[in-house]
Amino acid sequence: MRILVIGSGGREHAICYSFARSSRVEKIFCAPGNAGVATVAECIPIKPEDIDSLIEFAARESIDLTFVGGETALALGIVDQFEKRGLKIIGASMSAARLEASKAFAKDFMARHGVPTAKYVTADSPSKAIEILESGHFGDELSAVVVKADGLAAGKGVVVARDRSEAIAACGELVDLVGDAAEQIVLEECLIGREVSLLMFVDGNNFALMPPVRDHKRIGEHDTGPNTGGMGTITDSGLLTPKQSQEIIEDMIEPTLAGCLADGFPFRGILFLGLMLTDGGAKLLEYNVRFGDPETQSILVRLETDLVDICEAMLEGKLAEQKIEWSSGNSACVVLAAEGYPLKPRTGDLISGLDDAASIDGVTIFHAGTAISSDGDLLTAGGRVLGVTARGVSLEETLRVAYAAAERVSWSGMQYRRDIGKAH
Ligand code: AMP
Ligand code: GLY
Repeated sequence: MRILVIGSGGREHAICYSFARSSRVEKIFCAPGNAGVATVAECIPIKPEDIDSLIEFAARESIDLTFVGGETALALGIVDQFEKRGLKIIGASMSAARLEASKAFAKDFMARHGVPTAKYVTADSPSKAIEILESGHFGDELSAVVVKADGLAAGKGVVVARDRSEAIAACGELVDLVGDAAEQIVLEECLIGREVSLLMFVDGNNFALMPPVRDHKRIGEHDTGPNTGGMGTITDSGLLTPKQSQEIIEDMIEPTLAGCLADGFPFRGILFLGLMLTDGGAKLLEYNVRFGDPETQSILVRLETDLVDICEAMLEGKLAEQKIEWSSGNSACVVLAAEGYPLKPRTGDLISGLDDAASIDGVTIFHAGTAISSDGDLLTAGGRVLGVTARGVSLEETLRVAYAAAERVSWSGMQYRRDIGKAH
């Protein structure tokens, strides 16, 4: 089979790596890819948003299956347009992608279908949100309020404000930070608890869970400093008890998939639940309609079933008959980031020690922001540069191996968190 993967991050490198392990795959292309992807796929210089060019490429190159990494192309309707041309593609339709592309839409959907979530109110503009906060109709003097831009904001659209005055200030700041995405604002009750993400393959009716995963979003150790796209992840079956998993299936996943069907957009693709485990049970913080980054790196190193088989089962509505196996134990991904990330990452630094790090048993290194210079050197080319990913029989051993590998890599200004898998 000839495969096309769309995107350029560590997530897409992990997806290409999984396809490369399939005995059914003859050739992988990635648009646009990165320096690490280029070791397993042919990178083609087409942007994920350039859907017409991607369709033209897929038709010309007789691509059998396309897999979409990120949300931008999904929200633009890439899946609907590929399917209109008779091209096979894995990802959420444009209608289903609204579950991620509009937080107001997602919250109304959760309310309509009885999915447990934080109390909320939607404001049509930032000034309306300020009015609501000042009127005292939402939040009070002392309690925290979460202020969210409605639209896609690459992880920058959420402020957890400590009190009402911080929330009022956040409404204005979000406009400066994310522009049009903050045209509408969702105000939410602040939930307290531990965060866990649960991803699944979905074929419209059936779902197959992946191992639960925890992301560490803040730049600094002990969860300090600004939010990032994610500084590291672990998979650990202990993140959810069997009882919690069962409740999440019954109270969230089943109503969500039934809700998508009832609302006329059956969900097919990767569904990602961002959960908060509160004293009052699990609550849904958000839907994503794609694999996470760096969740995917930790998840896919444990996938033992052929990804092509899973994709075919999704396309044919036969996921219930497809056995999906995961290696036992744990995995962890430690993100190595450039100096200045997330605000102003410096690029162009020479990376060394990669082969040495990758030679450690159980380690796989996924590239995100990397590029090859005209002299053939490997350089940093983005904020999150590498995802050092390890597998092991226990969480402790997995983290030890991941950090041993991370220590072998270096470049000027490299930064990473030393507490992945430890903090919560
Ligand atoms: P989201 O993009 O909606 O997942 O929000 C990004 C991050 O903000 C989450 O991973 C949480 O850490 C935090 N967050 C979002 N909503 C809430 C909430 N209602 N209560 C507490 N924290 C939240
Ligand atoms: N790591 C968070 C995300 O991909 O949404």
